Amino acid sequence: MTIRWLLAALHLLALGVGLGAVWARGRALQAQLDVPGLRRVFYADAWWGIAALLWIGTGLVRAFGGFEKGSFYYLHNHLFWAKMALLVAILVLELGPMIALIRWRGGVARGAVPDTRAASRFARISFVQAVLVVFMVLAATAMARGYGVPAR
Ligand code: HEM
Repeated sequence: MTIRWLLAALHLLALGVGLGAVWARGRALQAQLDVPGLRRVFYADAWWGIAALLWIGTGLVRAFGGFEKGSFYYLHNHLFWAKMALLVAILVLELGPMIALIRWRGGVARGAVPDTRAASRFARISFVQAVLVVFMVLAATAMARGYGVPAR
């Protein structure tokens, strides 16, 4: 019971952290990208990554570890699959920024100036991801309340 509660709390805390972080990353990517500016991008990006790990880690355990309604409920729920499709879209969108930010981090660590021409595209991607997270919340809260179960 305590684990179930803690998993739910962590899952929701990831929402607070992740939504703020991806929005902050988008804003930071629109600002001047000198070294302090890049550090702001990296900081927001690190919290976005932590939120993603928390979401996916706690989410998988909640869905398939027998803590909530059980695997059968989720695997047969349209809104669960909608939520997973949104997650996949977020992860696919993340590929570009993730690879570039790893390079930028390496560049800054070596004292080089990274090529940040894609920054405004990555900012737009971050804002789209924030909107997709909001849709995930809509799907999750409906799924948790019995919507999305196929009619018999
Ligand atoms: C960006 C990622 C995610 C967001 C924004 C998100 C959001 C949420 C929210 C807001 C709830 C609370 C619903 C409520 O009780 O009203 C929830 C519950 C839940 N989520 Fe997630 N979630 C994410 C990722 C995942 C993943 C990856 C999984 C599983 C593979 C997952 C599985 C669950 C489960 C099982 C519940 C409990 C539903 C219930 O009470 O029956 N979530 N999620």
